[in-house]
Amino acid sequence: MEKAESHVFYAMGLNNSYPVLESGKGVYVYDSEGKRYLDGIGGTHVVSIGHGVEEIGEAMAEQAKKLCFANKAQFTTEVQELLAEAIAAMAPVGMNRIAFATGGSTANEIASQLAQYYYKERGKPKKQRIIGRWHSYHGRTSATLAMSGSMFVRKELVYNFDFPHIQVPHCYQCPYKLTYPNCQLACAEDLATTLEQENPDTIAAFIAEPIIGGAGSAIVPPPGYYEKIREICDAYDILFIAEEIVTGFGRTGKNFGIEHWDAIPDIISATKALSSGYAPIGAVILHDRVWTTLKNGTRKVIPTSFTYAGHPISCAAALAVQNYIAKHNLIEQCAARGEYLKQKLTELADREPLIGDVRGKGLLIGVEFVRDRVTHQPFPFNKQLTKTIVKTALDNGLIIRGRNGTGIGKDGDHILISPPFVITERECDELVEILAATIAQVKQSLNLVCVE
Ligand SMILES: Cc1ncc(COP(=O)(O)O)c(C=O)c1O
Repeated sequence: MEKAESHVFYAMGLNNSYPVLESGKGVYVYDSEGKRYLDGIGGTHVVSIGHGVEEIGEAMAEQAKKLCFANKAQFTTEVQELLAEAIAAMAPVGMNRIAFATGGSTANEIASQLAQYYYKERGKPKKQRIIGRWHSYHGRTSATLAMSGSMFVRKELVYNFDFPHIQVPHCYQCPYKLTYPNCQLACAEDLATTLEQENPDTIAAFIAEPIIGGAGSAIVPPPGYYEKIREICDAYDILFIAEEIVTGFGRTGKNFGIEHWDAIPDIISATKALSSGYAPIGAVILHDRVWTTLKNGTRKVIPTSFTYAGHPISCAAALAVQNYIAKHNLIEQCAARGEYLKQKLTELADREPLIGDVRGKGLLIGVEFVRDRVTHQPFPFNKQLTKTIVKTALDNGLIIRGRNGTGIGKDGDHILISPPFVITERECDELVEILAATIAQVKQSLNLVCVE
């Protein structure tokens, strides 16, 4: 294929030329030149069961042969019903009603709209705004961009949604320069302060990724954080949306990331590992208390419809993927392999001063790079450390993803590692070896000197 003649509007670089990916098997993908890459981010935290699992393709083909589409205003399908049943069985206690979406952004749109409908039905129609967190990403639609806190996605497109943001629970770069537990969870308290300042009568929900994915590279809040968030949401009568686009369906070693804390959300939005990337789909899971209010409310219809949401072939793919995960115990495997990989990365950090922090749960692992391991001071943004590490790793046959900004402003470098749950220990070793070689190369090429 002649890349110069491409008609594609590439999402992440207008003048870039990309390798053409052709096939994949397990944790490896191959480009048209025959180069092999270890997929250290599972697409973008999407691929859970690995690339090239034939039985998923067969389930999709079977469904396509039987029925390709159903208008959801008039019909349901068996496969949609079965998938909803399977998701309800996996979800936290009391969360049983599923609205399907086409992906992460549409799932978060539906979640926030349902939160508003919930309050309309309860006679509080002014509760329309959503509180998000800095260092977060919730999607590319106008409303989900406004919920997002990452300065890198917000910087150019400013919409008039007036959605507030609270501080991030990032202990390694604490926004308050405090230490847990003496901090008394000031970052969670910020929700109460913000609600007081912003008027809780105008707020419908707080949205947060239980463990922050791409925008923060696996930032894990401290113990007690979500328990406190839950208390504050209840005290101020706002809903808690657990945004599990990345963490949902096993990635953190539990069905849902929020299950690492003792807090049941009102709504969960989840997508990526649901279908492991075999087809686009998203799910919004409602707690019975939200569902009952909507069901017994004044409206006969609450539209959550996107034409392709709950598409039969996507449902068939997701159902086959979830059956495959259950049959092969892949969520337990994800937890165990995550521990192994984190241990290997921690050992690398012991000998590599550039690595300040290794964090995460399951196979959602972040590595933060610093100039000074004592003060956690990062290199300046214009060093382009993250970008160079990601690019060099790609040249070396390892796909990873990285972002900037760990504290206030653009400085700070971190990468996220989220391979398919089927990665073996040998493949984890290979991933760490390539990363170690990449870091050594980048330190030399950028002339980086760490404070030791
Ligand atoms: C945490 C999080 N939320 C939302 C989204 C948006 O999902 P989508 O790109 O499927 O719309 C993403 C995408 O990467 C994400 O990582």
